[in-house]
Amino acid sequence: DSYVWFEGIRFPGSGFDPEVFREVRDKFVVKNEDTITVTYPKSGTNWLVEIVCLIHSNGDPKWVQSVPTWNRSPWVETIPGYEFLKDQEGPRIYTSHLPIHLFPQSFFSSKAKVIYGIRNPRDVLVSGYFFWRETNIFKIPETLKEFMELFLQGHVAYGSWFEHIRGWLSMRERENVLVVSYEELKKDTRVTVEKICEFLGKKLKPEEIDLVLKYSSFQFMKENKMSNFTMLPDSYVNENFSFIRKGVTGDWKNHFTVAQAEAFDKIYQEKMAGYPPKLFPWEEC
Ligand code: A3P
Repeated sequence: DSYVWFEGIRFPGSGFDPEVFREVRDKFVVKNEDTITVTYPKSGTNWLVEIVCLIHSNGDPKWVQSVPTWNRSPWVETIPGYEFLKDQEGPRIYTSHLPIHLFPQSFFSSKAKVIYGIRNPRDVLVSGYFFWRETNIFKIPETLKEFMELFLQGHVAYGSWFEHIRGWLSMRERENVLVVSYEELKKDTRVTVEKICEFLGKKLKPEEIDLVLKYSSFQFMKENKMSNFTMLPDSYVNENFSFIRKGVTGDWKNHFTVAQAEAFDKIYQEKMAGYPPKLFPWEEC
């Protein structure tokens, strides 16, 4: 089997271990000075990570050009990420795709900052379909139709999008949690980057913000081997794999049939009932 299971959720088979999930949840000590990017996979994680790293370096691109994403901001729930982070001194920057109930529990009594990135689940689904198909990290069915069924049931990597969102959004009023959508980042990147700076307590000059925008742009990240996963071992990826794929909002419209869009909507409405629509900018797109 190419999957690892933990608490009823499927994870990729390589780089993960149920024992590590347990330790991460129960024993990992989150520090007050930590900055953590949290997302459901394919929500624009790496874009946010790039922005966070560049804010940290005041727009200097050296770090993002010399160190791969997963070393600059390791995924805490992976075996190597956990090994690295648990002994790291000082303030740390790291990443996680964990749903809230599997997240390090020490976070909830800390002042560490979480940036929770969200994206239209239809685009998350399409982005995931191409990503998982072109890599051998997590096996998925051939057709988008079959993948959609699994996605809606939560039988995909990291479980249900709906549960992930509901869990993390319950934290949205906390001072140390900032919710950022892919859609607002696309629509007004500067304003959103300034919002992230303010949340992180970083005062960047306008020209430094210009550099953050330049080096986290789609084109720059696509060409930067340290961001665009071109260093993944060949055994993981198909030929012509580009992690930075299309980078737009609403690509789902090119892939869903009318019937699929309706079926998706029905479940979306049921599961997301009760949330103010303005929380989710994709409802206006
Ligand atoms: P698409 O597959 O729709 O193009 P994650 O990092 O969570 O895996 O998300 C990957 C998605 O973010 C991909 O979406 C990718 O193209 C997009 N992305 C990455 N960097 C980006 C950038 N600088 N600007 C816009 N989108 C970006």
